[in-house]
Amino acid sequence: MKKIVVFGGSNSKKSINKELAVYASGLAQNVEVSVLDLNEFSLPIYGIDEETENGVPKNAQNFFEKLQGADGIVLSLAEHNGNFSVAFKNVFDWMSRIEQKFWNNTPMLLMATSPGGRGGSSVLSIAKNGFPHMGGNIVADFSLPSFYDNFKDGSIVNEEFKDQLKGAVSAFQNAL
Ligand SMILES: Cc1cc2nc3c(=O)[nH]c(=O)nc-3n(C[C@H](O)[C@H](O)[C@H](O)COP(=O)(O)O)c2cc1C
Repeated sequence: MKKIVVFGGSNSKKSINKELAVYASGLAQNVEVSVLDLNEFSLPIYGIDEETENGVPKNAQNFFEKLQGADGIVLSLAEHNGNFSVAFKNVFDWMSRIEQKFWNNTPMLLMATSPGGRGGSSVLSIAKNGFPHMGGNIVADFSLPSFYDNFKDGSIVNEEFKDQLKGAVSAFQNAL
């Protein structure tokens, strides 16, 4: 069975992006799902002095190994001021110090959601442009706007968005 790692690009304990990522992974069939939480990989803020003095932290290596062991990645990014959350960017920078193309060409379903009407489309666009330079293989993407209107009791309630996500999950699944 194909192994997929699933996480939100957020350190919020109530992350709506983690919730969306878990929901999307539940639409895939015959996959072994491993849900990660950035809070379980706490890391010092990346800095060249930190790296020179203390090396790459064990948690960064652990996260890297989770990514390398995956046949597929489901990631939903939180948008903070139009960009990555600090928590995600920090892991991202540590990963890039272990291996520049750390996404390893692994098929990725990339998503974003936010309570606002643009559904994290700025951060999604940043990631879509940037990840391919780092070994990213985005095979499908999806943005869910107005999370609290469109996602209720653990699932997407708007049929149009639900169908769109099902299409994205199916493209992801076919790429595994
Ligand atoms: C510092 C900060 C900046 C934010 N900037 C944006 C933004 O640029 N666009 C947006 O749609 N939502 C923005 N939000 C709202 C987030 O989308 C919202 O907090 C969401 O829950 C974050 O996802 P998460 O729950 O997965 O962490 C911001 C929130 C914070 C705390």
